Amino acid sequence: MKKYNVGIIGYGWAAAAHIEAINKTTQGQVTAVYSSRKLNDAEISAKHGGTIKSYQNIDEMLANPDIHVVDITSYPSQHRDQAVAAANAKKHIILEKPMANSLQEVREIAAAAKSNDVKGCVCFECRWSNQFQVTKAMIDEGLLGSLHYGEVDYYHGIGPWYGQFRWNTGKKDGGSALLTAGCHALDALLMVMGSEVESVCSFSTKSRSDIFKPYEYDTCSTTIIRFKNGAVGKAAAIVDCLQPYYFHTHLCGSQGSLLDDKFHSMKLHTDKHSWSKLSMKMLDSGDVSDHPYQSQFQAFFDALDQGKDMPLTSFTESLKSFEVIFAADKSAELGGKPVTIAELG
Ligand SMILES: NC(=O)c1ccc[n+]([C@@H]2O[C@H](COP(=O)([O-])OP(=O)(O)OC[C@H]3O[C@@H](n4cnc5c(N)ncnc54)[C@H](O)[C@@H]3O)[C@@H](O)[C@H]2O)c1
Repeated sequence: MKKYNVGIIGYGWAAAAHIEAINKTTQGQVTAVYSSRKLNDAEISAKHGGTIKSYQNIDEMLANPDIHVVDITSYPSQHRDQAVAAANAKKHIILEKPMANSLQEVREIAAAAKSNDVKGCVCFECRWSNQFQVTKAMIDEGLLGSLHYGEVDYYHGIGPWYGQFRWNTGKKDGGSALLTAGCHALDALLMVMGSEVESVCSFSTKSRSDIFKPYEYDTCSTTIIRFKNGAVGKAAAIVDCLQPYYFHTHLCGSQGSLLDDKFHSMKLHTDKHSWSKLSMKMLDSGDVSDHPYQSQFQAFFDALDQGKDMPLTSFTESLKSFEVIFAADKSAELGGKPVTIAELG
């Protein structure tokens, strides 16, 4: 028996990848699943390994004292109520992005975890990817010097060929281009720039293709960020593009630049006329089976062992990213007017 029994909420696409990743960690194992559908315990246990009990009543699952961690992979509009209920039941929480689709709800989730003294892990797993761990290490080693400009952009056409399309097109669950998926790029940008955000301005639009017509919100946005240390940055969230998945990164600093997996560093005396190449696993797919959930969940369980907030993707850290996201969406609504984080209240 491992140390942390995990109950999954919502049994869809993300859940399947989470279960596999949790079961591969040293301390975690999935022992329960809550779904609105009736599931067969023997079938899901055989499929995922171990013994899994299914629930159709969420309160019953949360009342089970043998469950230590709850992992929320449901529709975004359900995240707030389920996360607050899990915190009140004294369960630690893994929470898929977006934490919720309003700033007030995100803050309520963070407050409920704090007052119940439970820990959180937000699935901003790009921070745990090999690509961004290496990128961050290059910055921390000073190979790019002090960053004054950064852009991280998310290009992934989420059309009818993609499972989430059936609920993602609605404002209630999709929210905005940033909330539904571009949040990964903006969050990665905040990690690498390493400064608090002063203000943002954002513009949004929609593809003219009929493919993306069902969307109730703008599926293309670009956000310009002013950081408190004087640096500037940009994050595009394009979920209506017709091209291969592309997570674009370009960073410029006082000692060099990084473009995806290429770099130049004055510190290393590389040749400025051609890029040097980094070998690392790139974020090049929207498929959840390719996501670095295992490293992230391992770090969460390690932090639980030590009674600490997890590094990089705790509720407190991710709340800061969501403040910037909601400020950006507010700016886009205002036609690009700058919005400061302070004025969010
Ligand atoms: N971090 C990431 O990169 C990433 C990737 C994929 C999804 N997600 C997030 O995970 C959450 C779930 O997304 P998903 O892709 O797993 O969506 P999904 O459509 O597969 O599942 C979403 C919800 O629908 C339920 N569901 C699915 N099929 C059902 C059915 N036939 N009958 C009744 N209920 C059904 C699931 O139990 C779940 O509660 C969302 O918050 C999404 O944003 C995050």
